[in-house]
Amino acid sequence: MGFIADSLNRIEPSATIAVSTKARQLKAAGRDVISLSAGEPDFDTPENVKAAAVRAMAEGKTKYTDVDGIPELKAAIVRKFARENGLDYKPSQISVGTGGKQVIYNALLATLNPGDEVVIPAPCWVSYADIVMLAGATPVFAETRPEDGYKLKPEALQAAITPRTKWLIFNSPSNPTGAAYTKDEMKALTDVLLRHEHVWVLSDDIYEHLIYDGLTFHTPAAVEPGLVGRTLTMNGLSKAYCMTGWRLGFAGGPETLINAMRKLQSQSTSNPCSITQWAAVEALDGPQDFIAENNKKFVERRDLVVAMLNQASGLQCPNPQGAFYVYPSCAGVIGKTSGSGAKIATDEDFATALLEEEGVAVVHGAAFASSPAFRVSYATSKDVLEDACRRIQRFCGNLR
Ligand SMILES: Cc1ncc(COP(=O)(O)O)c(C=O)c1O
Repeated sequence: MGFIADSLNRIEPSATIAVSTKARQLKAAGRDVISLSAGEPDFDTPENVKAAAVRAMAEGKTKYTDVDGIPELKAAIVRKFARENGLDYKPSQISVGTGGKQVIYNALLATLNPGDEVVIPAPCWVSYADIVMLAGATPVFAETRPEDGYKLKPEALQAAITPRTKWLIFNSPSNPTGAAYTKDEMKALTDVLLRHEHVWVLSDDIYEHLIYDGLTFHTPAAVEPGLVGRTLTMNGLSKAYCMTGWRLGFAGGPETLINAMRKLQSQSTSNPCSITQWAAVEALDGPQDFIAENNKKFVERRDLVVAMLNQASGLQCPNPQGAFYVYPSCAGVIGKTSGSGAKIATDEDFATALLEEEGVAVVHGAAFASSPAFRVSYATSKDVLEDACRRIQRFCGNLR
């Protein structure tokens, strides 16, 4: 009998964290490495948010708080949902956790039993399936296609639902593809969900504000109010507010679920950092104009990366409208051999050889349950992106 729990054997360490760690180690060892693997903006946290944290410390707001958030933050989140999403939650319907990841973890661990199924459109964020499996339940991937802009079609959703389906996890704009749904596209999916009353929706809206080309953000509970009673609308400060290290996520949903999530959190981390919570009040209530400024830079970077990757032989890169990722297909390089003789049989081989030979770290598509492809994060400067894309072009050009 092994010492480590069986449940741990069902899951893998986060592939994105693994690639970022490897890139950092190579850099520390003196290698010239460009990491396009991180899921975080390179911009700094806004000054007013940092100042709110300093104030909170000076005022001694450094003790335990209510497990799932201080009332002031819950009130700010209620205002955010009303102002930005047209959703009418009460404070008792709000949960605050240590990052969006904990909120998702709480929701899934609090509801899933062995045998339950969770529909996850693929490609998808690395952690959804592993959290589902940790809970003993089964992820069911609903495939999306590059020619549909990696957006789930209603027929594919319908086909993935069974009597055992407990959740659909929905993520727009998406990590890793950047795909963002229009209202009509989302309505087509919520229409399917209306016909399946046993299926709940976990909407991961963490990239809400990172949306481009004039597209408007939509979330399922607002598009179809008939789903409010079985939707958890999750969000967080990591991405748009450049606060990945502060660790704050939140969600609005039915009280029975929110209470269960609080119970679980009360026996794990307790409250999220008190100082972060006060900074979060300022982030949500304070000026928001920096988001549009950052987005202008993201669009320039996206355009640069998409254009340059489409010039690399064997790669095909769609032009997504959200988040800070692109997800090029590398089907055209599979079966080839790299300049240094590495066989490229999978997208993981591609990513490994690219890192070894050109010092560019990307995350292979298999980590996101969709191959052969890879994810590039363009949350870094244009100079760095240009250098990285030139290296990718050279790597692809040397394949035989
Ligand atoms: C789609 C998606 N959801 C949730 C998270 C969790 O973010 P955090 O825990 O930093 O709030 C991430 C982070 O990479 C993500 O990409």
